[in-house]
Amino acid sequence: MNKFTLRELHRDKVALGEYSFSGWIKSHRQSKNVSFLEITDGTTMKGLQVVINPEVTSYKECFARLTTGASVTINGKLIPSAAKGQKYDFEATDLAILGDASAEEYPLQKKGHSLEFLRTILHLRPRSNTFGAVFRVRSVAAMAVHSFFQEKGFYYLTSPIITSSDCEGAGQMFRVSTLDAANPPKVDGKVNFTEDFFGAEASLTVSGQLEGEIFATALSKVYTFGPTFRAENSNTTRHLSEFWMIEPESAFCDLNDNMDLAEDFVKYLINYVLERCPEEMEFFDQWVEKGILQAVRSVAESKFQRITYTEAVDILLKSNKTFEFPVKWGIDLQSEHERFLTDEHFKGPIFVTDYPKDIKAFYMRLNEDGKTVRAMDMLVPRIGELIGGSQREERHDVLKEKIKAQHLKEEDLWWYLELRKFGTVPHAGFGLGFERFLMYMTGMQNIRDVIPCPRFPGFAKF
Ligand code: 4AD
Ligand code: MG
Repeated sequence: MNKFTLRELHRDKVALGEYSFSGWIKSHRQSKNVSFLEITDGTTMKGLQVVINPEVTSYKECFARLTTGASVTINGKLIPSAAKGQKYDFEATDLAILGDASAEEYPLQKKGHSLEFLRTILHLRPRSNTFGAVFRVRSVAAMAVHSFFQEKGFYYLTSPIITSSDCEGAGQMFRVSTLDAANPPKVDGKVNFTEDFFGAEASLTVSGQLEGEIFATALSKVYTFGPTFRAENSNTTRHLSEFWMIEPESAFCDLNDNMDLAEDFVKYLINYVLERCPEEMEFFDQWVEKGILQAVRSVAESKFQRITYTEAVDILLKSNKTFEFPVKWGIDLQSEHERFLTDEHFKGPIFVTDYPKDIKAFYMRLNEDGKTVRAMDMLVPRIGELIGGSQREERHDVLKEKIKAQHLKEEDLWWYLELRKFGTVPHAGFGLGFERFLMYMTGMQNIRDVIPCPRFPGFAKF
């Protein structure tokens, strides 16, 4: 017999007629002459109402097992619904249980479980309405990423996951090693990594940017979209140890072009999701964050303000607010400062540019003032930093100096310097944290709730 999914059905791609339909029971209720099963298959927000004559033999036989969470296959007829608010009913002629879900043990009996509780059952939470919606949006947004860059003529670059370079220079990398941890080979009291698998120290990447630069200075426009790893001891609602990042890198491009691209990108992602996930967005608006729909819609139509770091510091100083971390020129902006700028002062996304060179990575282009670099962070309400990027230092001699000043090893970055020695070009790029974007889009408040299996200090289940 023919099958359909609820996604196909609710997009009116299924003709009325006889089918076999499978899914999980959401609810089961009976009235005098008729019984109802609400079934979902997770392919969309809406379920399907199955109408059953209680005299159907297979219904009578498995009646007690038709509990929330049980999986079933139902044969029957798709018909127009007489009920309000739904287009179709499915009239069952026969049904079979695929898998029981004991009413005593199945944890997703009722609606309205807390997100904290659902985090303890990572393997079952995708079956809840909230997480179903989050992970469908995640998939659609991933497609939007590719669609945006491919339309703009960027080539997709799969940058390496195992690497020997620390792009951000922050020393927050996870080591990749096959040495015996309890008894590693040593020379002069130090671990001898020449005996390790790769013949040298290796780690999981914190960013694909440096490889992105290799390819941007060859193919002009590239982007990466892959997992990145940070062994940073941040136990916050905005940090993960494993997260996904999108990093475009463009040759013949300065900081302003870079900001234009970042702004277009975020707006494109928002519109793409709004268009393809209207039910999920309605759901978030109603149950997760009231007003989120209007908020993201208006962002997609607004112009993002652009200010320098120095201007941002002035605004914060003049705000007369007492911050936990006092503001002065030279500090790294803390999330309370970022939130004040986006949520209270500008009431929308902003770019902050030209940060002090001492708080930013070695690869950013030094400004004429010798104190600041051509950095840009995109800050957005509720989240803070969504994007970090910069115009890159393309001058060989200046870069060499910066590598030295930040106590990095020139011999590790010789190849990166060579990109400036041979046919160097002005170029720029940025990184957008995919999970931060998903939080922004869905209204979910904890980054651990927008990635299938979150990894954070002290936790890496499955
Ligand atoms: O600002 P970051 O560290 O920039 C870079 O890695 C550059 N190499 C990007 C580039 O220019 N190509 O990280 C970029 C973004 C941040 O703005 C944030 O959205 C996200 O990545 N991010 C994290 N997301 C989740 N958990 C973490 N621990 C994150 N650290 C950064
Ligand atoms: Mg950053």
